[in-house]
Formats: sequence, structure tokens, C-alpha cells
Amino acid sequence: MKLRIAIATLLLTALCAAQPTQWFPPEQMMTIGVYYYPEAWPESQWERDISNIKKFGFEYIHLAEFAWAFMEPEEGRYEFGWLDKGVDLARKHGLKVILCTPSATPPAWLARNHPDILMVRADGTRMNHGSREQADWSSLVYRRYVEKIVEKMAEHYGSNPTVWGWQLDNELSHYGAGMSYSPAAQQRFRDWLREKYGTVERLNRDWGNSFWSQMYNNFDQIQMPNPHELVAGANPHAMLDLHRWFASEAADYLRFQASVLRRHVKGQWITTNFMMNYDLINPALSEKDLDIMAFTMYPVSGGLFRGQLGFRMGDPAAVSFTHDFLRNLGSGIEGPMELQPGQVNWAPVNPWPQPGVIHAWIMRGFGLGARLVCVYRYRQPLAGDELYHKTMVEPDGVTLAPGGKEFIQSIKDVQLLRTLYKPNMPPPADYNARRTAFLYNFENRWDMENHKQTVRWDSFDHLLKYYRALKSLIAPVDVITEAKDFSKYPYLVAPAYQLIDKEVIARFTRYVENGGTLILTCRTGQKDRRGQIWEALWAEPIYDLVGAAIPKYDVLPEGRNGKVIAAGREYEWGSWADIIEPRPGTEVLASYADQFYKGSAAATSHRLGKGRVVYIGVDSLNGEMEADLLRTVYGPGGAKPARLPLNFMVDWRDGFWVATNFTDNDQTIPAPPDAKMLAGSRTIPPGGVAIWQ
Ligand code: GAL
Repeated sequence: MKLRIAIATLLLTALCAAQPTQWFPPEQMMTIGVYYYPEAWPESQWERDISNIKKFGFEYIHLAEFAWAFMEPEEGRYEFGWLDKGVDLARKHGLKVILCTPSATPPAWLARNHPDILMVRADGTRMNHGSREQADWSSLVYRRYVEKIVEKMAEHYGSNPTVWGWQLDNELSHYGAGMSYSPAAQQRFRDWLREKYGTVERLNRDWGNSFWSQMYNNFDQIQMPNPHELVAGANPHAMLDLHRWFASEAADYLRFQASVLRRHVKGQWITTNFMMNYDLINPALSEKDLDIMAFTMYPVSGGLFRGQLGFRMGDPAAVSFTHDFLRNLGSGIEGPMELQPGQVNWAPVNPWPQPGVIHAWIMRGFGLGARLVCVYRYRQPLAGDELYHKTMVEPDGVTLAPGGKEFIQSIKDVQLLRTLYKPNMPPPADYNARRTAFLYNFENRWDMENHKQTVRWDSFDHLLKYYRALKSLIAPVDVITEAKDFSKYPYLVAPAYQLIDKEVIARFTRYVENGGTLILTCRTGQKDRRGQIWEALWAEPIYDLVGAAIPKYDVLPEGRNGKVIAAGREYEWGSWADIIEPRPGTEVLASYADQFYKGSAAATSHRLGKGRVVYIGVDSLNGEMEADLLRTVYGPGGAKPARLPLNFMVDWRDGFWVATNFTDNDQTIPAPPDAKMLAGSRTIPPGGVAIWQ
């Protein structure tokens, strides 16, 4: 009987539980909202602002993100009356609400009563109240206070039908302050190591502690490796574990907050806003804890990027990569929870974005399948650190700012596309034939960045060269982790896959033997998962797979570039060059054109079973070589690749083609003459968008 009741309860819970498609119906495609901070404005203006937000076409507002001091002004005194009014105004004007847990901004009383909740920077400085993200997630005291406020919010709003979903914290990180080295963090790091290794002997072995007499007698002697305290190079294996621990600690903290919310929320989704491509925190570790995946997106924030206009447009590959990664986690629903609507305030230089480019960022996300976008923020603060930051409206609170107009343009585009939406449109066959799995593993990135061997190496930039190259072929890309199945994809790209084991080599081999095309690049297979090199020839475990030996590599000093020839064209490189010795039958795709190893192979192709393995051992300066080589690889086999200029990107979604131009010049879209234009024109300027069917 008891069992039957339990089964019935389980079934009922499953039936009542909202599904991601209920929250984000496919026919809606993408929904656009905006951040609003009622606590910062006179109550007399709230209704004016919220009704204007509705008139502009937004569908939801995001509230209470940093409002701990307003929700719990004194310890144990909770005040939700003001927020109730904001939520109710949203309901009255037909807007949904996203609420946020306020743990990024603990109130002053908490820091003063419990200074040990504050993080400690690597140089030993304890951070202080007066900014944000200063609290230490490893502090159990802090977690107790977070639990109380989050539980109170969940009790209060968990059944409110206007509340659509929740964001946990904000951009979980300590920004430039890095990791916390507090006693609490040290303790949790040690506990994690104890759990991982069981005995200190195993840890000594895997960290290679016989080197420089780094042996530990017990776990209590271990401290987080902290380059500020180390005279010479840090132990790379300890550093790798430090990164693993920190990412898992962040995921644990998110899991903890989500579990507190889930005690009370009904039919509301939970997410967090990961910082785009932030290297310390791995969203894949949270895919089971979050209902949707979201990130923050500030493409124009002082970086020069490339070309004349890059500083005004940002890097489309970096942003697109994030969409393609987060879409392949959890429920598959993703989008930017924050997008800049103009100049920001926090970069060393904060230029004005190229006119049109905000619209282009939004529609680029649309083309990649994003289901939500939220503008950061509605009103320009008159006080505080972000008063230089542009917003939807000008500082008067009512006049649309230029970026605001681009959001409204995007809302109109989406409204039009919704009228043309047809369910379950199959992707065009030749586009689908180029579908590529892109293997992404944070551990490779951490290990290579910890132990670079040349300052000219940039792990993420190397990945983006391949991602950008794939986009120039108009290839749909799924950025996936090893936990996913790549066997169905015709192409698998695994750039700089440095840390490997027998299992992954066996999976790669099976994939290729069954007909897949695997593209590996320099630095692959040099180390085991501990970050130790093999007692073998350099990278020898991948020789059979690649059909070549890769016994040597070279790197060049700043200001010296090497030359490489591929498909009859010459390219330059400077950061990394594997010197490849192909076995008989392995084809050479590129060779070095100078240095003492002139004529040696730089890229090869090896047939294995029904498929082939391409190995590109050199990292070019500007990524053109990667795009040209991939085009020759994708050429045979019916994939008919294009070769668009790098950063002119075209994607297909739900029956619509979307082109966005992030180059310095006008570009012509690759549309057939009878295409029906829905937005933009056939030739689009830098920062422009075209949509057609
Ligand atoms: C983001 C942050 C927001 C806001 C914004 C300003 O990184 O998540 O809270 O500060 O920057 O650009």
C-alpha cells in the first residue's frame, strides 16, 4: 500500500512538474526581458517604468538581484512588502518576473557580525563590505545565512504565478580577486583531496611530489597552491586539482542554493548567470541542478579583438561558442541573462558599440537557438559604481537610448518571425551534413594555461580559431563535453586535447573506424589526466590514431614568426608547431616553409577504417589557415562547405537563415535569388543583420 502511495505521489509530482517547454514554448522561439531595480527608484515611478517596459514589448522583468539589505535589513527581520508591490505591478501589466537570490551582495550587518564570511585573496588580504561578490562560498557560516534568506524568498514567492523563474547569485566568481584562500576554503580543499585520493601516498604519487621534495606526510599539511607564496614554479598537478576543486566548489554552492529553493518553489525554473567563457567555473558541472542555462554577455568591453571595428563589435566566435556550449547542457534551453545595451563602465576603456551591433548580437543568439535574452538594465543608475553604464533608457528614466532602440528592433523581429513559425522544421540537408561536435574540456584549458611553455599560447583563443573556422564553412556546431555521445556526428573537432586516457583514445578510434572524421590539433595527447607526461615518446599514445609520430614541437619568441604552407598558400605561426613524422600512407596537408625543420609535415590526414583522422599541428597567427584547411577536409563527402570571411556568420534556426556581419566590410549574404527577405538586405554593413527564408 505504502509503495503504491509512493508511486502515485511520484507520478503526480512528475505530471505537475513544469517542463522546460511549458516555460519556453517552442513557437515563442525567443523571449526578451529587462532588469529593473525598484529598490533604487522612488516608488512613485515604479508603475510608470513597468508600464513603459510592457509598452516597449518586453515580456518579463528581472528583480531583486542585489536586494539583500532591503529584504533583510536587520538580521532575522524580513521585508518583502516593497518587492510584493513590484511583482504585483508586473502582474498588472502582463509581465512575468524572474527573481534572483541576493547572495552576491550580503548586507553590512552580516560582514560586521561575521567577518569570517569574507573571502581572502591570494595575497592574504581579506575582502570587505562595500562592493559585491566579497563573500566566501566555502564558509559554512555564510551558507547558513544564505540558506535563511533564500528559504524565506522561496516560501514567500515559490507559488506566486507571476514569478516565472529564479536566478541564483550573480556571475558566481570573485571577479578579479580570483579564488578565496580563507581557512574555510583551505579546509574544504583538503577534504576534497582526502575524498579523491584516500591516502596521502596516492596524492604524493599523482602530484609527482618526489620532485623538489614536495612530499606530504598527511593531508593536514596541504594548503591550496598559491603562486603568491611560491618562490619558483607551482606544482602543475596540484594546480590542476586546485582548479578542479574550485569549479566543483562553485557547482556545490549552486546546488545548495537550488536545493533550498526547491523546498518551496512550484512550477518555476532555476538558473544562474554564468560569466561568458569564464575559465574558473564550469557550467557543465551544474547541468543537472539547473533547469535552464544562462550567461552574461558584454562583447564590447575594451578588447581590441581584430580589424578596425573589432573594438566596437567584439568577438562573434566567443559569444557563439557560449550559445553552442550551453545549448548542449541540461534541458537545452539557454540564453544571455544579461546583454549590454551600450557602453559599459568596468573595462579599462569603454567605447561606444557600433550602431546596429546590439541588434546583431541578439539575432546572432536567435540564429543559434537562444530562447531568452535580457537587457542589462532598464534605467541608468544616477549613483553608484555603474553610473557610466548605458541602459535601455537615458538617465531621465523615459527617453529611449540608442541601444534601447536596438532591443525594440529585435523584439519586433521576433514578433514577425513568430507569425511565420512552423513547428519541427528539419534543417536543410547540406547544412546538416556539416554538423560538428566540438569537444570542450575545462581541464585541458586549466592545465595548458597553468603550464603554457610559451606566453604566446592562449588555450581559449586556439579553440576559437577552430570554432571561427567552422562558422566560416556555415557548419552547425554542438560544443559538448566527453560525457556526451559524439558517435552520431559526421565531424568531431577536439582542439588541443592535451589530457587523455586509454578510454578516450578508444572512443576516438571507434568513432573514426565507424566513418567519422576526427580533427585533432597541436598539444593533443601529451599528458595523462593527472597532467603527467607519458613514459614513452612524446605524445606516443596517439600515434596509431593519427598515423604519424609527433616527437618534437617548437615555439618562437615574440616578434619571430615561422612559415607554413597549406593548400598552396603561405601562413604565419608563432605560438606552437608540432613537427609531424607521417607513417607510410598518411597524407601531408601542410608543411613548414622555414626554420631548420623546413619541409617537415605540419598537418596530416590518416585513413582509419571507414573514416579519417586529421591532425593539424600548427597554430596559425590569424586563423585563416585553420579555416582553409577545414574547408578541404569538409569538401569531400557531400558537405559542400562555404568559405565566408571569418566573422561573417550565418546560421539556420526553425526555418530561418540569420546572417550577422562582424567584419570591417559590407558582406553579401549567401541566399538564393528567390529567398524571401524578412529583415535587412542582401548586402549588410558591419554590425548588420539579415534574415531570410
Ligand atoms: C555584469 C554583472 C551585472 C552588472 C553588469 C554591468 O558583469 O553581472 O550585475 O554589473 O556587469 O555591465
